[in-house]
Amino acid sequence: MVMDFLDGGALDEITLRANVGDLSAVRLQQRVLREVSEMDLSVSVFGTTLRTPVGIAPMGLMSLFRPDADVALARAAQAAGTVFVHSAWSGTPLRDVAAAAPGSVWSQMTFWPDARLVEQHLQRAQDAGIEVLVIAADVSVSSKRDRDLRNGFTMEARPTPRSVLNAARRPRWLLNFLTSPRVAFGDQSVDGNPMNLKQMQEFMEHENTSATWRDVERIRALWPGRIVVKGIVSPDDARAAIDSGADAVYVSNHGGRQFDAQPSTVAALPAIAGAVDGQVPVLVDGGIRRGSDIVAMMALGASLCLVGRPVVYGAVHSGTAGAEHVLEILAEEASVALAFTGTTILRNVDRSVIAPT
Ligand SMILES: Cc1cc2nc3c(=O)[nH]c(=O)nc-3n(C[C@H](O)[C@H](O)[C@H](O)COP(=O)(O)O)c2cc1C
Repeated sequence: MVMDFLDGGALDEITLRANVGDLSAVRLQQRVLREVSEMDLSVSVFGTTLRTPVGIAPMGLMSLFRPDADVALARAAQAAGTVFVHSAWSGTPLRDVAAAAPGSVWSQMTFWPDARLVEQHLQRAQDAGIEVLVIAADVSVSSKRDRDLRNGFTMEARPTPRSVLNAARRPRWLLNFLTSPRVAFGDQSVDGNPMNLKQMQEFMEHENTSATWRDVERIRALWPGRIVVKGIVSPDDARAAIDSGADAVYVSNHGGRQFDAQPSTVAALPAIAGAVDGQVPVLVDGGIRRGSDIVAMMALGASLCLVGRPVVYGAVHSGTAGAEHVLEILAEEASVALAFTGTTILRNVDRSVIAPT
């Protein structure tokens, strides 16, 4: 049930499969007899150099997998020299995660129907010393996830014989789950009081279908730091994000968990990078599973890649060390793939490394 929540996507999981499938269909051009003794995988975003070209995307409800997952992921990102994006739907308060990995944490938020929640979030982020705000723009509408429905894994989840049996087969997870102090949403409160279960349910399910680019402009006027708009899959939206004051666009289809009738992010990326034309950094996630995927995304116009699910497997296995190991594997593979293309500086790769198919 819990693995399905992590692995799954919307409806028939067409976009989820396309993210991985389209990336693995990109072919890189091998070149030989070029000196590749000094590899440079660093990337630069907002004037900061990141040693590892892959950051950790925002993911909610991580404490379902492991009580300390958010802190473990943030520390892994910091150790690897990259960034972790804290989700607004995290069980661990932003300030605790930011304190665990100072300087390496960005904060994801969205437009809640109650404007007070937006203001509270901006204040919290500022108090925690956060410099980069990631606005999830693709959650105005929510989608069905068939795996979760089949498993009875919804906000009104009631234990069914199947889910009890399922949990009983994982005693260590069950013990962690039952004994950890479980705050479903570490940060959200109403009038200073922690949300009760019903409020949380409404908070999760109540989409703000009235949010528009005007809301991004409003946040621009309130937020002194950088703004990244996440969920961009169209060149026109990328331009709208820049016009609304965004400092970066983040190409993402939510890992195929939202709209299941759309192309992969690697298919959407080149036109968006073309529209952005170097004005702001272009971040991308979705289906990155090998280092060669990072080289492909960078060659097609990305400034920084992010991963979701892969680092969670590492964190569940062995906390910070496990997640860090996943980032290391990806970076090492990216280095080898880059060297095979006869190139040494990842941030400078261009389409010449993409092989004709
Ligand atoms: C379990 C899970 C929870 C997620 N929660 C959020 C979230 O709270 N906010 C958000 O903007 N994106 C969320 N996402 C989407 C990720 O930020 C990211 O776009 C996606 O996972 C990238 O694809 P990948 O898992 O193939 O690397 C979530 C993804 C997963 C797998």
